[in-house]
Amino acid sequence: MFLNALKLTNYKNYTTVQAVFDKPVVIFCGQNGTGKTNMLDAIYQLSFCKSNFQHKDSLLVTRGETLFRLEGNYQNDGDPHKTVIKFSAKTKKEIEYDGKKISKISDHVGKIPLVFIGPRDIQLFFDGSIERRRFLDTGLCQIDNQYLHKLVTYNRILVQRNSYLKSTSPHTADFALIQSYDEQLENPGLFIYEKRMDFVNRLSTIFNEVYKSISGNKELASCTYSSQLEHQTLGLLLKQSREKDLFLQRTTQGIHKDELVFTLNDQTLKQFGSEGQLKTFLLALKLSMWQLIKNETSQQPILLLDDIFAKLDVERVKNLLSYIQETCDTQIFISDTDQSRVSDILESLSLSHAVFQIENNQIARIHEA
Ligand SMILES: Nc1ncnc2c1ncn2[C@@H]1O[C@H](COP(=O)(O)OP(=O)(O)OP(=O)(O)O)[C@@H](O)[C@H]1O
Ligand SMILES: [Mg+2]
Repeated sequence: MFLNALKLTNYKNYTTVQAVFDKPVVIFCGQNGTGKTNMLDAIYQLSFCKSNFQHKDSLLVTRGETLFRLEGNYQNDGDPHKTVIKFSAKTKKEIEYDGKKISKISDHVGKIPLVFIGPRDIQLFFDGSIERRRFLDTGLCQIDNQYLHKLVTYNRILVQRNSYLKSTSPHTADFALIQSYDEQLENPGLFIYEKRMDFVNRLSTIFNEVYKSISGNKELASCTYSSQLEHQTLGLLLKQSREKDLFLQRTTQGIHKDELVFTLNDQTLKQFGSEGQLKTFLLALKLSMWQLIKNETSQQPILLLDDIFAKLDVERVKNLLSYIQETCDTQIFISDTDQSRVSDILESLSLSHAVFQIENNQIARIHEA
């Protein structure tokens, strides 16, 4: 997929903005707070029908306005495609793909595959396990259109089970009702477990190679999947933990407890990794996801690199960009406060690119090579 043109109306700091992209690498440069990340977020929204940062759509509308509209014109193997997303506080969000209304978000996700890498993603290593499952889910829902559907089903039943556990007590509980929730969780739970297991197995093989390329073969990094379902079926796990769940008033077993375990030179990454190593790890993980989506879907996901070069030494930035040049034959959007940092390296690698300056809520093409 190649984004040829982007049009934003009342999206965050942009009232009306249009840009045409005809180079494989696009750089958005500008000072802090000018709207570089917002521009990338608009591109993200066109793929996932939601912002990467803000869950409340009403806060995405330019302050003082009532609705936003995003339009992306794409090219895939010579075929044009168009996505339009409209939101107003009064109506539900509307999504159109090639002129047809999309009724379920899960039907759109995966049509324009995309991988976003930004500074806040480093929290993947520190925040709760929900962030690491979200990482898996973002990759999987772009590969398998059943995945998001099963995940939504699982989460819906889990919410029902949990609210019932909160409303009852171990002495008065209706075990037949709990059993029926457990049975409904089994099918989507097993589906998600198998998909995640397979995904991480494939991902970790690619990841080893990518990490070596970016770090210059200096460290040994690994990523493994851990799930309670490895030892027991979900049905049995839920049955065995029923009394405990009633006592704690929440579901303690299931795929909503899955984890990703990261190590560097056989030590826990979050305890021993330096800032540069954590960043290298993150980039390698996300680029592996990019590669895996490409392998599984035969599509080239768009790559968004938001302000990722701070804290990386010049050698790693070069390794990263040359890795991307060699393996990612795709469209890449890069944001950076320093116009020349990325541009100079891209020029030394002979990578064709266009630089856009963002200031005063407008975007202007200032350089190309
Ligand atoms: N709903 C909104 N209406 C108007 N402006 C908004 C809205 N939401 C966010 N903004 C503005 O967007 C700006 C931040 O934009 P963004 O995060 O894209 O900046 P940036 O160029 O990526 O900065 P940095 O270099 O610091 O990462 C802020 O000034 C904020 O006020
Ligand atoms: Mg930013």
